[in-house]
Amino acid sequence: MVKILANDGIDAIGKTLLENAGFFVETNKAPEGQLIQTINEGNFEVVLVRSATKITAEVMDSCPGIRLIGRAGVGLDNIDTRHADTRGIQVFNTPAASSQSVAELVFSHLFAGVRWLQDANHTMRTVGNTQFNGLKKTYSAGIELQGKTLGIVGFGRIGQAVARMAIGMGMKVIATDPFIQEVNLELNIAQTGQKISIPIQTVSFDTVIAQSDFLSLHVPGKVNGKAVLGADELSRMKKGAGVVNAARGGVIDEDALLQALNTGQLSFAGLDVFENEPTPREDLLVHPKISVSPHIGASTAEAQERIATELAQYIIRYYAR
Ligand code: MLT
Repeated sequence: MVKILANDGIDAIGKTLLENAGFFVETNKAPEGQLIQTINEGNFEVVLVRSATKITAEVMDSCPGIRLIGRAGVGLDNIDTRHADTRGIQVFNTPAASSQSVAELVFSHLFAGVRWLQDANHTMRTVGNTQFNGLKKTYSAGIELQGKTLGIVGFGRIGQAVARMAIGMGMKVIATDPFIQEVNLELNIAQTGQKISIPIQTVSFDTVIAQSDFLSLHVPGKVNGKAVLGADELSRMKKGAGVVNAARGGVIDEDALLQALNTGQLSFAGLDVFENEPTPREDLLVHPKISVSPHIGASTAEAQERIATELAQYIIRYYAR
């Protein structure tokens, strides 16, 4: 029987599909520092991970029984894919399954930021019944998203899902991507069943930086070891703009971000990902202008079901060859 270690968990639907097809699926996470021993002692041929478990060259070299590594989600940054190639280990991911969920989280942070919800949730809990009128005044100058320009850096599946939502909200979208010149965005109007196609030509990174009221990042990681938004890029944004990073930690320089928030260059930030996961720096977590979440872009029932189904189908096909 082929044994699968789903070290960061797998939705029940995928586990059931795999078990019905005759696989053994372990969902208990290997204890800290014992991944190699767990894989070897359990004779696991397939290892499934989200973003938490790192599959390094050392893990692959120390576990010669691994044949297949599945990444539940998009980014492959926690798997040494080049080393997997050299060892003939197949690596696969589920690039489309979580786009809508990530896009909706981006909007959660945008909605929070323009009305200070991240701060109001905290202050209302502590002094809401004694200083209600003062708090009402503090948060009295919110703004609407409708009519504003949303800049999208990285116009792949997730960037496009964000764009669809933005257009539905009445926002103007500008996007940049070194690999994509034009996209025909298909909008499905659930109410009427209509489909509307909206062509979007990408523009330069500098244009997006300069013209956006809000910016959402959808790139796989740092570029040549450098943050995409550092002090220079942040200084070229509109004063009072807001940024959201639900892509990868380090894509925004965290020191530069704090500086931009503290000087008022940025009015807010939404962060789902952090440079130092799983122990992000405290000053980001407690900042009143930052809406924070613990890397949960793909953490919805729908996304996890789609991801688990895709993983299971891939493994079943692989072993049926
Ligand atoms: C992804 O790359 O799809 C996500 O970051 C994975 C996760 O939710 O851990």
